[in-house]
Amino acid sequence: MTDNKAISTDERMRREFNEWAEAGRGEEMEQHHISITQQTLAMMALRPGERVLDLGCGAGWASRLLAKAVSGSEKPGQVIGLDVSDEMIRRARAGSTEYDNLMFVVGSAQQIPWEENFFDKVLSVESFYYYGDQEGALDELFRVMAPKGEFFILINLYKDNAYSLRWVEELKVPLQVRSEQEYIDLLREHAFEDVRAVRIPDLTPTPEEYSGKWFNNAEELRDFKRIGALLLIARKPDLVSPPKGYEVE
Ligand SMILES: C[S@@+](CC[C@H](N)C(=O)[O-])C[C@H]1O[C@@H](n2cnc3c(N)ncnc32)[C@H](O)[C@@H]1O
Repeated sequence: MTDNKAISTDERMRREFNEWAEAGRGEEMEQHHISITQQTLAMMALRPGERVLDLGCGAGWASRLLAKAVSGSEKPGQVIGLDVSDEMIRRARAGSTEYDNLMFVVGSAQQIPWEENFFDKVLSVESFYYYGDQEGALDELFRVMAPKGEFFILINLYKDNAYSLRWVEELKVPLQVRSEQEYIDLLREHAFEDVRAVRIPDLTPTPEEYSGKWFNNAEELRDFKRIGALLLIARKPDLVSPPKGYEVE
């Protein structure tokens, strides 16, 4: 029997999401997240030449949309997809061989294997509430984002959407649950500017009959989609972060 207490949260997530990936759930998530992601992409106002991080990229479908959005003949732009699950990353790479401005990296949001002051924009779809140390992840985002860079963190699990709280007991891994206001306070505490929260409804049609396990009927699913995902937007101030290991006097 595996002693879950003896392994790190990252390792638990790696094992759990490797299983999801092997069951084909990485690719499946596109249909569940595409509506809220497309609305978010429109708000990101991506431009050719920008450097973008897809944090918790899974099987990489959103990274590919980002790569298309920042490509251009003069300035190609660059997208990095990062995920703690090596099996998700293997599949993301296999599905993206035609992209020359897209790279996938195995690593944790709490220790982003990238240099300081690099990314103009960050997208994270349905991943942030899995991070055992959300504060550490925010510090890392701050470090790797370019001065005035912006992030767009999209989550369906938050206190103000009661339906989503049903997942907390059911999923096999620990989840972080905060309200919209608690997230806003947290982002401000981590020195981000222009902090905003927007609700993004899922605009896909709901079937008349619901037979899955998360909702009692189609009406509940419709209500969940109407309440929508929470999109957290914030900007890094116009300052240059020092490399890791150096402290500003
Ligand atoms: C629900 S999936 C969403 C994947 C993808 N963004 C999508 O929408 O299809 C959550 C993803 O977050 C990743 N994840 C969980 N904890 C992580 C961490 N600490 N650092 C990086 N990725 C993490 C998982 O491996 C998984 O691929």
